[in-house]
Amino acid sequence: MGAILEVKNLKKSFGGIQALKDVSFDVAEGEILGLIGPNGSGKSTFVNTVCGLYRPDGGQVALRGKNITGLEPAMVARAGIARTFQASRPFLNLTVLDNVIVSALLDETLVDAAEKNARQAIEVAGLSQYINTKSCNLPVEKRKRLDLCRALALKPSLLMLDEVMAGLNPKEMEDGLDLVRAINRQGVTVIFIEHVMKAVVSLCHRVVVFDQGCMLADGEPHAVMQDERVVKAYLGGSYKPC
Ligand SMILES: Nc1ncnc2c1ncn2[C@@H]1O[C@H](COP(=O)(O)OP(=O)(O)O)[C@@H](O)[C@H]1O
Ligand SMILES: [Mg+2]
Repeated sequence: MGAILEVKNLKKSFGGIQALKDVSFDVAEGEILGLIGPNGSGKSTFVNTVCGLYRPDGGQVALRGKNITGLEPAMVARAGIARTFQASRPFLNLTVLDNVIVSALLDETLVDAAEKNARQAIEVAGLSQYINTKSCNLPVEKRKRLDLCRALALKPSLLMLDEVMAGLNPKEMEDGLDLVRAINRQGVTVIFIEHVMKAVVSLCHRVVVFDQGCMLADGEPHAVMQDERVVKAYLGGSYKPC
Protein backbone atom coordinates (compact mmCIF):
# COMPACT_ATOMS: atom_id res chain seq x y z
CA MET A 1 0.00 0.00 0.00
CA GLY A 2 1.11 3.59 -0.59
CA ALA A 3 1.85 6.26 1.96
CA ILE A 4 -1.02 8.09 3.63
CA LEU A 5 1.35 10.63 5.21
CA GLU A 6 4.63 11.86 3.77
CA VAL A 7 6.81 14.05 5.95
CA LYS A 8 9.89 15.61 4.39
CA ASN A 9 12.60 17.61 6.18
CA LEU A 10 10.22 18.86 8.86
CA LYS A 11 11.76 21.49 11.15
CA LYS A 12 10.40 23.32 14.17
CA SER A 13 12.28 25.44 16.70
CA PHE A 14 11.22 27.30 19.81
CA GLY A 15 13.71 30.08 20.34
CA GLY A 16 17.04 28.27 20.56
CA ILE A 17 15.51 24.81 20.96
CA GLN A 18 15.33 22.76 17.78
CA ALA A 19 12.45 20.47 18.72
CA LEU A 20 12.38 18.93 15.21
CA LYS A 21 15.70 19.19 13.42
CA ASP A 22 15.05 17.56 10.07
CA VAL A 23 12.49 14.78 10.22
CA SER A 24 11.51 12.73 7.17
CA PHE A 25 9.45 9.56 7.09
CA ASP A 26 6.30 8.11 5.53
CA VAL A 27 3.36 6.43 7.20
CA ALA A 28 1.82 3.61 5.17
CA GLU A 29 -1.91 3.46 4.54
CA GLY A 30 -3.52 1.20 7.17
CA GLU A 31 -0.56 0.79 9.49
CA ILE A 32 -0.21 1.38 13.22
CA LEU A 33 3.03 3.29 13.62
CA GLY A 34 4.56 3.62 17.10
CA LEU A 35 6.38 6.89 17.77
CA ILE A 36 8.67 6.62 20.79
CA GLY A 37 11.59 8.46 22.34
CA PRO A 38 12.70 10.19 25.55
CA ASN A 39 10.75 13.10 27.02
CA GLY A 40 11.56 16.23 25.08
CA SER A 41 12.61 14.35 21.94
CA GLY A 42 9.98 16.09 19.79
CA LYS A 43 7.08 13.61 19.61
CA SER A 44 4.32 16.04 20.62
CA THR A 45 5.91 18.78 18.53
CA PHE A 46 5.71 16.41 15.57
CA VAL A 47 1.97 15.87 16.18
CA ASN A 48 1.37 19.57 16.72
CA THR A 49 3.27 20.54 13.58
CA VAL A 50 1.60 17.93 11.37
CA CYS A 51 -1.88 18.87 12.60
CA GLY A 52 -1.32 22.59 12.03
CA LEU A 53 -1.18 23.80 15.63
CA TYR A 54 2.44 24.85 15.07
CA ARG A 55 3.67 26.30 11.80
CA PRO A 56 6.79 24.43 10.63
CA ASP A 57 10.02 26.38 10.05
CA GLY A 58 10.74 24.19 7.05
CA GLY A 59 9.74 20.99 5.30
CA GLN A 60 6.56 19.53 3.86
CA VAL A 61 3.68 17.38 5.02
CA ALA A 62 1.44 15.64 2.50
CA LEU A 63 -1.72 13.63 3.17
CA ARG A 64 -2.50 11.17 0.36
CA GLY A 65 -0.33 13.26 -1.95
CA LYS A 66 -2.00 16.57 -1.07
CA ASN A 67 0.24 19.23 0.45
CA ILE A 68 -1.16 20.21 3.86
CA THR A 69 1.92 22.02 5.19
CA GLY A 70 1.03 25.00 7.33
CA LEU A 71 -2.76 24.62 7.04
CA GLU A 72 -4.88 25.73 10.00
CA PRO A 73 -5.78 22.90 12.45
CA ALA A 74 -9.45 22.88 11.41
CA MET A 75 -8.44 22.46 7.76
CA VAL A 76 -6.07 19.62 8.62
CA ALA A 77 -8.86 17.95 10.60
CA ARG A 78 -11.23 18.32 7.65
CA ALA A 79 -8.57 16.86 5.37
CA GLY A 80 -8.69 13.69 7.52
CA ILE A 81 -6.18 13.93 10.38
CA ALA A 82 -7.45 13.82 13.96
CA ARG A 83 -5.37 13.81 17.13
CA THR A 84 -5.63 13.59 20.88
CA PHE A 85 -3.76 15.92 23.22
CA GLN A 86 -1.15 14.67 25.69
CA ALA A 87 -2.87 16.83 28.32
CA SER A 88 -6.57 16.15 27.83
CA ARG A 89 -8.76 19.22 27.70
CA PRO A 90 -12.46 18.47 27.39
CA PHE A 91 -15.07 21.13 28.16
CA LEU A 92 -15.46 20.14 31.80
CA ASN A 93 -18.94 21.50 32.21
CA LEU A 94 -20.36 19.77 29.13
CA THR A 95 -21.64 16.22 28.94
CA VAL A 96 -19.78 13.55 27.02
CA LEU A 97 -22.30 13.84 24.18
CA ASP A 98 -21.96 17.63 23.93
CA ASN A 99 -18.16 17.45 24.06
CA VAL A 100 -18.13 15.03 21.16
CA ILE A 101 -20.71 17.03 19.19
CA VAL A 102 -18.49 20.12 19.49
CA SER A 103 -15.67 18.15 17.86
CA ALA A 104 -17.91 16.64 15.21
CA LEU A 105 -19.10 20.14 14.25
CA LEU A 106 -15.62 20.86 12.96
CA ASP A 107 -16.42 18.61 10.04
CA GLU A 108 -20.22 18.85 9.86
CA THR A 109 -22.21 22.05 9.56
CA LEU A 110 -25.52 20.43 10.50
CA VAL A 111 -26.02 19.73 14.19
CA ASP A 112 -28.10 16.61 13.50
CA ALA A 113 -25.35 15.09 11.37
CA ALA A 114 -22.73 16.05 13.97
CA GLU A 115 -24.82 14.42 16.69
CA LYS A 116 -25.13 11.24 14.63
CA ASN A 117 -21.34 11.06 14.20
CA ALA A 118 -20.88 11.83 17.89
CA ARG A 119 -23.23 9.05 18.99
CA GLN A 120 -21.48 6.57 16.71
CA ALA A 121 -18.06 7.54 18.07
CA ILE A 122 -19.34 7.26 21.65
CA GLU A 123 -20.58 3.76 20.96
CA VAL A 124 -17.32 2.67 19.30
CA ALA A 125 -15.34 4.09 22.23
CA GLY A 126 -17.52 2.22 24.74
CA LEU A 127 -18.75 5.39 26.45
CA SER A 128 -22.50 4.97 25.90
CA GLN A 129 -23.05 4.50 29.61
CA TYR A 130 -21.53 7.95 30.25
CA ILE A 131 -23.19 9.80 27.40
CA ASN A 132 -24.98 12.26 29.71
CA THR A 133 -22.21 12.52 32.31
CA LYS A 134 -20.41 15.84 32.62
CA SER A 135 -16.80 15.31 31.64
CA CYS A 136 -15.55 16.72 34.97
CA ASN A 137 -17.17 13.70 36.64
CA LEU A 138 -15.48 11.07 34.47
CA PRO A 139 -12.80 8.77 35.89
CA VAL A 140 -9.35 9.10 34.25
CA GLU A 141 -9.76 6.14 31.92
CA LYS A 142 -13.08 7.41 30.62
CA ARG A 143 -11.69 10.89 30.17
CA LYS A 144 -8.94 9.44 27.99
CA ARG A 145 -11.62 7.61 26.04
CA LEU A 146 -13.50 10.86 25.62
CA ASP A 147 -10.38 12.38 24.02
CA LEU A 148 -10.21 9.48 21.62
CA CYS A 149 -13.91 9.76 20.98
CA ARG A 150 -13.64 13.45 20.08
CA ALA A 151 -10.97 12.58 17.53
CA LEU A 152 -13.03 9.66 16.17
CA ALA A 153 -16.10 11.84 15.66
CA LEU A 154 -14.16 13.58 12.89
CA LYS A 155 -14.11 10.28 10.98
CA PRO A 156 -10.37 10.56 10.39
CA SER A 157 -8.25 8.62 7.92
CA LEU A 158 -5.23 9.20 10.17
CA LEU A 159 -5.47 9.27 13.96
CA MET A 160 -2.56 10.52 16.09
CA LEU A 161 -2.73 9.34 19.71
CA ASP A 162 -0.37 11.26 22.01
CA GLU A 163 0.12 9.25 25.22
CA VAL A 164 -3.54 8.34 25.35
CA MET A 165 -2.80 5.35 27.62
CA ALA A 166 -0.82 7.29 30.24
CA GLY A 167 -2.11 6.74 33.78
CA LEU A 168 -4.15 3.65 32.94
CA ASN A 169 -3.83 0.38 34.85
CA PRO A 170 -2.82 -2.76 32.89
CA LYS A 171 -6.40 -3.95 32.34
CA GLU A 172 -7.55 -0.52 31.18
CA MET A 173 -4.54 -0.35 28.88
CA GLU A 174 -5.34 -3.78 27.39
CA ASP A 175 -8.89 -2.59 26.71
CA GLY A 176 -7.51 0.61 25.18
CA LEU A 177 -5.19 -1.36 22.89
CA ASP A 178 -8.11 -3.53 21.76
CA LEU A 179 -10.04 -0.38 20.95
CA VAL A 180 -7.17 1.03 18.88
CA ARG A 181 -6.94 -2.30 17.02
CA ALA A 182 -10.68 -2.21 16.30
CA ILE A 183 -10.43 1.36 15.01
CA ASN A 184 -7.48 0.37 12.81
CA ARG A 185 -9.45 -2.59 11.43
CA GLN A 186 -12.06 -0.09 10.26
CA GLY A 187 -9.38 1.34 7.97
CA VAL A 188 -7.98 4.15 10.14
CA THR A 189 -4.20 4.59 10.05
CA VAL A 190 -2.76 5.26 13.52
CA ILE A 191 0.31 7.03 14.91
CA PHE A 192 0.66 5.84 18.50
CA ILE A 193 2.87 7.65 21.02
CA GLU A 194 3.46 5.71 24.22
CA HIS A 195 6.16 5.02 26.81
CA VAL A 196 5.03 1.51 27.84
CA MET A 197 7.07 -0.63 25.46
CA LYS A 198 4.98 -3.77 25.93
CA ALA A 199 2.00 -1.83 24.61
CA VAL A 200 3.99 -0.47 21.67
CA VAL A 201 5.34 -3.90 20.70
CA SER A 202 1.98 -5.61 21.00
CA LEU A 203 0.12 -2.95 19.00
CA CYS A 204 2.43 -1.46 16.39
CA HIS A 205 3.39 -2.77 12.97
CA ARG A 206 6.38 -0.43 12.84
CA VAL A 207 8.19 1.89 15.22
CA VAL A 208 9.95 5.22 14.67
CA VAL A 209 12.27 6.48 17.42
CA PHE A 210 12.98 10.16 18.02
CA ASP A 211 15.94 11.50 19.96
CA GLN A 212 16.65 15.22 20.37
CA GLY A 213 14.50 16.19 17.42
CA CYS A 214 16.01 13.61 15.03
CA MET A 215 14.94 10.19 13.87
CA LEU A 216 17.15 7.61 15.51
CA ALA A 217 15.57 4.41 14.18
CA ASP A 218 12.71 3.16 12.02
CA GLY A 219 11.69 -0.46 11.63
CA GLU A 220 9.99 -3.59 12.90
CA PRO A 221 9.21 -3.17 16.64
CA HIS A 222 11.34 -5.99 18.07
CA ALA A 223 14.32 -5.08 15.89
CA VAL A 224 14.06 -1.40 16.89
CA MET A 225 13.89 -2.28 20.60
CA GLN A 226 17.11 -4.23 20.26
CA ASP A 227 18.91 -1.53 18.31
CA GLU A 228 21.88 -0.50 20.45
CA ARG A 229 21.40 3.21 19.77
CA VAL A 230 17.77 3.00 20.91
CA VAL A 231 18.70 1.11 24.06
CA LYS A 232 21.39 3.69 24.83
CA ALA A 233 19.32 6.81 24.09
CA TYR A 234 16.00 5.71 25.52
CA LEU A 235 15.35 2.25 26.85
CA GLY A 236 18.37 1.76 29.10
CA GLY A 237 18.15 -1.50 30.98
CA SER A 238 14.41 -1.20 31.48
CA TYR A 239 13.18 -3.01 28.38
CA LYS A 240 12.91 -6.78 28.41
CA PRO A 241 11.80 -8.22 25.07
CA CYS A 242 8.60 -10.26 25.60
N1 LIG B 1 5.16 25.37 22.81
C1 LIG B 1 6.45 25.24 23.12
N2 LIG B 1 7.21 26.30 23.46
C2 LIG B 1 8.52 26.16 23.76
N3 LIG B 1 9.18 25.00 23.77
C3 LIG B 1 8.48 23.89 23.43
C4 LIG B 1 7.09 23.96 23.10
N4 LIG B 1 6.67 22.70 22.80
C5 LIG B 1 7.74 21.90 22.95
N5 LIG B 1 8.83 22.61 23.33
C6 LIG B 1 10.19 22.08 23.55
O1 LIG B 1 10.49 21.26 22.44
C7 LIG B 1 11.18 20.08 22.86
C8 LIG B 1 10.37 18.86 22.43
O2 LIG B 1 9.20 18.78 23.24
P1 LIG B 1 8.02 17.76 22.95
O3 LIG B 1 7.72 17.78 21.50
O4 LIG B 1 6.92 18.10 23.90
O5 LIG B 1 8.70 16.38 23.33
P2 LIG B 1 8.03 14.96 23.67
O6 LIG B 1 6.60 14.99 23.30
O7 LIG B 1 8.85 13.98 22.89
O8 LIG B 1 8.23 14.77 25.15
C9 LIG B 1 11.36 20.20 24.37
O9 LIG B 1 12.63 20.76 24.61
C10 LIG B 1 10.25 21.16 24.76
O10 LIG B 1 10.60 21.86 25.93
MG1 LIG C 1 4.91 14.67 24.40
